[in-house]
Amino acid sequence: MSIITTERLCKYFKGKKALDNLNLEIPKGIIFGYLGPNGAGKTTTIRVLLNLAKPTGGTAYILGEDIRKSRNYLRKVGFLPDVPNFYNFFTAREFLSFIADITDIENPKKRIEETLELVGLRNEKSRIGTYSRGMKQRLGLAQALLSDPELLILDEPTSSLDPQGRKEVLDLIYSLKSTKTVFFSTHILSDVERICDRIGILKEGRLLLEDSIENIKKRYWKRRILIEVDDLEKFLERIKESLKPNSVEVKNSSVVIEVLDIQYTLKEIPKIVVQDGLLLEKLEILEPSLEDIFLEVTSGA
Ligand SMILES: Nc1ncnc2c1ncn2[C@@H]1O[C@H](COP(=O)(O)OP(=O)(O)OP(=O)(O)O)[C@@H](O)[C@H]1O
Ligand SMILES: [Mg+2]
Repeated sequence: MSIITTERLCKYFKGKKALDNLNLEIPKGIIFGYLGPNGAGKTTTIRVLLNLAKPTGGTAYILGEDIRKSRNYLRKVGFLPDVPNFYNFFTAREFLSFIADITDIENPKKRIEETLELVGLRNEKSRIGTYSRGMKQRLGLAQALLSDPELLILDEPTSSLDPQGRKEVLDLIYSLKSTKTVFFSTHILSDVERICDRIGILKEGRLLLEDSIENIKKRYWKRRILIEVDDLEKFLERIKESLKPNSVEVKNSSVVIEVLDIQYTLKEIPKIVVQDGLLLEKLEILEPSLEDIFLEVTSGA
């Protein structure tokens, strides 16, 4: 069953297409990474899904409900905005009590303690004003998790954090995987690589790609090999002639070649090295990085 489905969803601002015929289908129980450069339409998508902005065209179904017809689904959705705001004079516990009061949460005392435990703030007695950004972001997640929602929508939850803070937040999101569906936007590629099951890449309001990371890597797999030898010039001359690579890219003392038949190339290179009396210093098959794929997809037509 899909938790989020969008059907030709559009949002225009004075003729500008912030979302252009967005078709998404996000199954239950996954972590979905919503990637895109600045201004791609990530926050706009989230605002429409949360009924904070009306779609110009098309619609979306969340937990089976049409967002144009109902707002009931919002009870089952937790949300962390891109720039969360807190009252600095509260402690974490006081802040969550305040949220529990205004959102009518069942058994609030127990739920607050469970949630504080989950985000690692149970023993934190100081006021929010003294928190690090990582702690604030974990508190933001606590706020989003307080009602024990089925779906969690997070707008760039890691963007302002240092590596340690990012790790804490990502570990936390990952730990929710078995019980919740998570939709999170980001432009940090290593984050999605670390925790996402599927990703979508958005640019100028259009979805350029949507698939599992594994399939995307397969699809954009380039047969690339990095080689280092003691006499690069001599080696380059030889391989251009005998291996006819699709591309040759020299970087400092190494060369990266792209070939059609990787097995054949791996057999041939040592032969060339021996015949020409070269010293082979490095031979490595290059994995496609998500960064390369992202740049290729977002810079293309
Ligand atoms: N309220 C608004 N009025 C007019 N234009 C808007 C409004 N909100 C967003 N836009 C425009 O819509 C486009 C998408 O913006 P959006 O904030 O959704 O991008 P984003 O992917 O979240 O970017 P970022 O990575 O910077 O957060 C941008 O061109 C933006 O200027
Ligand atoms: Mg945004």
